[in-house]
Amino acid sequence: MNAATSESPRNFDGARHPHNIVVGVCGGIAAFKACQLVREFTEGGDQVRVIPTNSALQFVGAATFEALSGNPVSTSVFEDVHEVAHVRYGQEADGIVIAPATADFLARVAAGRADDLLAATVLVATCPVVIAPAMHTEMWNNPATQANVATLRERGIVVLNPAVGRLTGKDSGAGRLPDPSHIAAVARTVFSGASMEHNLTGVNVLISAGGTQEVIDPVRFIGNHSSGRQGFALAEIAVQRGATVTLVAANNSTLPNPPGVKVIPVETTVELQHAMHNQAEGADVIIMAAAVADFRPAKPAEHKMKKSQGDAGLSTIELVENPDVLASLVEARAGGSLAAETVIMGFAAETGDDKQSILEYAQDKLQSKGCDVLMCNEVGPGKVFGQTTNQGFLLDSDGTVTEVAAGSKHVVSAQIWDKLALLL
Ligand code: CTP
Repeated sequence: MNAATSESPRNFDGARHPHNIVVGVCGGIAAFKACQLVREFTEGGDQVRVIPTNSALQFVGAATFEALSGNPVSTSVFEDVHEVAHVRYGQEADGIVIAPATADFLARVAAGRADDLLAATVLVATCPVVIAPAMHTEMWNNPATQANVATLRERGIVVLNPAVGRLTGKDSGAGRLPDPSHIAAVARTVFSGASMEHNLTGVNVLISAGGTQEVIDPVRFIGNHSSGRQGFALAEIAVQRGATVTLVAANNSTLPNPPGVKVIPVETTVELQHAMHNQAEGADVIIMAAAVADFRPAKPAEHKMKKSQGDAGLSTIELVENPDVLASLVEARAGGSLAAETVIMGFAAETGDDKQSILEYAQDKLQSKGCDVLMCNEVGPGKVFGQTTNQGFLLDSDGTVTEVAAGSKHVVSAQIWDKLALLL
């Protein structure tokens, strides 16, 4: 390897998430989802204290939160006064996540109020605070709410974008509480020290994720082990940092759509290539995180192939080469159909062998693909594909190599976005 290693990795460690988590719950129909959120943390080994508002208890009873968290629940600063609870919970917390947060609660925190136990806890806390709002679209879009959100973000509180979809009544729009697994993943990323700085506002991002599948016949395909988690996490972190994100998702039906992200489902490499080129205009950053099948059956069968067909059927499948989507995007930029400033990033899934190390293969790949940045990671049994953690190296076209420390795919995504933000 002839490149100089630049920055030393920050102390990201997916396993080092904090142990004292306060889950705040406000009064909205989505309060029931807080039960699942509490579970996400307790099952991850965290100690959870639930602090609901009085209105939250109209939707979910204290007994439910007590049973799920294993800790008593109170809403008022006048309970457990001898323990000075309104100060202690905030001081002792390693992380606070409030889900759902109502428009009223956002206003109270923005104004610095301390009129119930939850607001007082937030006012005292010096740990990271993540707020997941849920409300009707009109309330979310109201300039007062938006001003409160902007104020909280300026103060370093991470306010998640609500999901778009069916709301309490017959209406639908922006305002749904995101899936609890998404809230927990983003909160853990923030608690681990990763940057969630809102520094991607106005940036258009296009990401591919998942693994393409090439049809052999109506029941069979050629595919790979990619889960799509890394591409989805890149999209989730980018949108929470202010970007406008389009995600071309290859065969990811098991992952929930990231809130606030336009998702275009595809199956094959050719479909993925069309979708990427259709969406690429105006993109500031394009990331090819998808694991793309290099070859596809030359003649997919219309009917299920039979074992008895012998060589004419399943035992010999003629393949043709798929387009190289990443290289074609680089070519489109060189040809002027994409803006010259578009930053294009690829991934290199390598195993290394007795001829070259994974980094040497990645250097070759960076040059042959012509992209600006390449995330190189080692794949193999139990590594990367299908896993929830990742690590590797970011290679720059100027020869810089930056280590990406091990962590959840969200934590790794935050490090990647730190790097990409510097290139924009
Ligand atoms: N890629 C692509 N189109 C392909 C193959 C790969 O756009 N037909 C992209 C992937 O999305 C990834 C990068 O190219 O960003 C490297 O993918 P990888 O599978 O590691 O490399 P290959 O080009 O397939 O080379 P090889 O499998 O020989 O290592």
